[in-house]
Amino acid sequence: MVFRLKERLGKKLEEEVQFFKCWQKDKKGVGALMPTSIHAARRMASVVNPHSGLPVLELGAGTGVITRAILERGIQPHRLTSVEYSKEFYDGLVRRFPGVDFRLGNAYALEEILGERREKFDCVISAVPMLSFPMQQRLTLL
Ligand SMILES: C[S@@+](CC[C@H](N)C(=O)[O-])C[C@H]1O[C@@H](n2cnc3c(N)ncnc32)[C@H](O)[C@@H]1O
Repeated sequence: MVFRLKERLGKKLEEEVQFFKCWQKDKKGVGALMPTSIHAARRMASVVNPHSGLPVLELGAGTGVITRAILERGIQPHRLTSVEYSKEFYDGLVRRFPGVDFRLGNAYALEEILGERREKFDCVISAVPMLSFPMQQRLTLL
């Protein structure tokens, strides 16, 4: 029990350090000082309907806090497509969440990133910092 708690806290700290380093490199792109809290992540993932039979699309996965919350809703990893812009975050995500369909690229070029996987999704959950981007781009994404 104590070992598990230590392991969890260790992982959380590792994710926070990674997040802060990425923020230092690209403040505008990362758009926040700290990862999304587990509470906010679970609230965001609460829109997922695991019984719809449809895949889920996540944008801007970062450290994977929301990714984890989506999977906890009962979505099988291969039913989740997740787009992340930063190679550093992407590498960590691929390591932490085997089976999830991660795409390294720009959510603002969604059609290009999704390629053949242009299907109907149960929902789209986005953590992309929209205010950092020009209005026209935001509208296109929406
Ligand atoms: C506010 S952070 C939140 C990430 C995640 N919820 C977390 O707590 O770790 C925004 C994330 O969106 C990613 N991002 C920013 N612009 C993006 C874009 N155009 N396409 C895909 N991801 C993007 C950033 O690299 C970062 O991982």
